[in-house]
Amino acid sequence: MAKEFSTITAISLLLLLAQTTEAQSGVFDVTKYGAKAGNTDISQAILSAWKEACASTSASKIVVPAGTYLMNEMTLQGPCKGPLELQIQGTLKAPDDPSQFKQAGWLTVERVDQFTLSGTGTLDGQGPTAWTQNHCDKNPECKQFAMNMRFNSVTNSVVRNITSLDSKNFHVNLLGCKNMTFDHFTITAPENSVNTDGIHIGRSSGINIIDSNIKTGDDCVSVGHGSQQITVERVTCGPGHGISVGSLGRYKNEQPVSGVTVKNCTLINTSNGVRVKTWPASPAAGTAADMHFEDIIMNNVGNPVVIDQEYCPYNQCTSKEPSLVKISNVSFKNIRGTSSTRVAVKLVCSKGNPCENVEIGDIDLSYSGAGGPATSQCANIKPTFSGKQNPPTCVNSAQSS
Ligand SMILES: *[C@@H]1O[C@H](CO)[C@@H](O)[C@H](O)[C@H]1NC(C)=O
Ligand SMILES: *[C@@H]1O[C@H](CO)[C@@H](O)[C@H](O)[C@H]1NC(C)=O
Ligand SMILES: *[C@@H]1O[C@H](CO)[C@@H](O)[C@H](O)[C@H]1NC(C)=O
Ligand SMILES: *[C@@H]1O[C@H](CO)[C@@H](O)[C@H](O)[C@H]1NC(C)=O
Ligand SMILES: *[C@@H]1O[C@H](CO)[C@@H](O)[C@H](O)[C@H]1NC(C)=O
Repeated sequence: MAKEFSTITAISLLLLLAQTTEAQSGVFDVTKYGAKAGNTDISQAILSAWKEACASTSASKIVVPAGTYLMNEMTLQGPCKGPLELQIQGTLKAPDDPSQFKQAGWLTVERVDQFTLSGTGTLDGQGPTAWTQNHCDKNPECKQFAMNMRFNSVTNSVVRNITSLDSKNFHVNLLGCKNMTFDHFTITAPENSVNTDGIHIGRSSGINIIDSNIKTGDDCVSVGHGSQQITVERVTCGPGHGISVGSLGRYKNEQPVSGVTVKNCTLINTSNGVRVKTWPASPAAGTAADMHFEDIIMNNVGNPVVIDQEYCPYNQCTSKEPSLVKISNVSFKNIRGTSSTRVAVKLVCSKGNPCENVEIGDIDLSYSGAGGPATSQCANIKPTFSGKQNPPTCVNSAQSS
């Protein structure tokens, strides 16, 4: 009995020692919390590790080792007591059936400061089934499928090296975030995947997307209302719908957009290039200002340069009243390459609210299809020009439509 007791005590002590060592080193390996590669759900193991790591006052790291795992929808909730890193080396697969999700996000991270999502792993949203069931083009009230990642009120954080694959909806959605950087981030989904925006930014500030590669079926990056100080630099986009500010002006209570810089990017085979889009007949006034697009290579891109204040996909607009969103302080500079549509530069501003202080500099876009060389289309805008203009911009178009 005494011997048995001491054996148990020794084992317990060893276990305790092992756990203490783990907690002290600040590394939480999810396989120690019951995670197994294969067809079992890993979310409970990650949540258990998160609970401990989040309570730790020193920096901690949760590690998902190489291997393929299933993961159900999951919310990693803060606030936490110290900086926290989730390092994913393996592949996490979402449930295939979109109706299995109760929430709008597959992986949601909420109210966390100093969070890092790292590793060479992949979040595979298993989107193909959802894409065939998406009829949001015909029904704006449609049910939204789960996004691969949602960041809500996340601050001073980094997403690095991770891959988001085949999301059922947007790959990444930011809401109310401050100071977040996506670095060496990869997004992959086929051109025909539905509504798979790469990174959608809403009501957030200080967001940087750098050195990243986005191939998807919708906008590579979309900047929604209430966003400030957004930088997209050294990003390759395509296939996809390009890099967009908007669409803005569809709803009431939209906050201003200001400070968007898209620089040193390459777009390949996208249906649009860099664009600012607002809906006609806005329910309230809005503003979008201080937006700069420069050093951009367009490779077989449709509508490479666009301001469109009559944006109305699938003819969802009931009125053709002009947009009430005021666009000002915009520059498009050093944009070169090939356009896959004849209109290479389209600047269609609002009749009720013309664009102001728009600068067009060093544009060199060629079109080799039928119908003649590249052209521009302009309305309600008087840009200032510098450098080369190919096509000549706003020379033959009416100033008001
Ligand atoms: C932004 O977040 C990063 C990563 O946590 C941090 O190193 C940096 O100091 C933060 N910047 C500001 C201005 O708070
Ligand atoms: C991870 O990203 C960093 C840059 O943030 C890069 O220097 C590093 O090489 C990447 N690591 C791997 C394994 O891809
Ligand atoms: C981006 O900048 C780097 C370094 O300055 C340069 O080599 C590269 O050609 C640039 N790419 C584009 C698309 O302008
Ligand atoms: C772009 O499209 C062309 C023509 O469809 C295709 O040949 C080429 O491989 C595409 N490029 C990339 C990088 O996907
Ligand atoms: C536009 O830029 C001018 C200076 O060039 C500045 O005075 C003005 O405040 C800016 N407007 C907006 C809305 O950012």
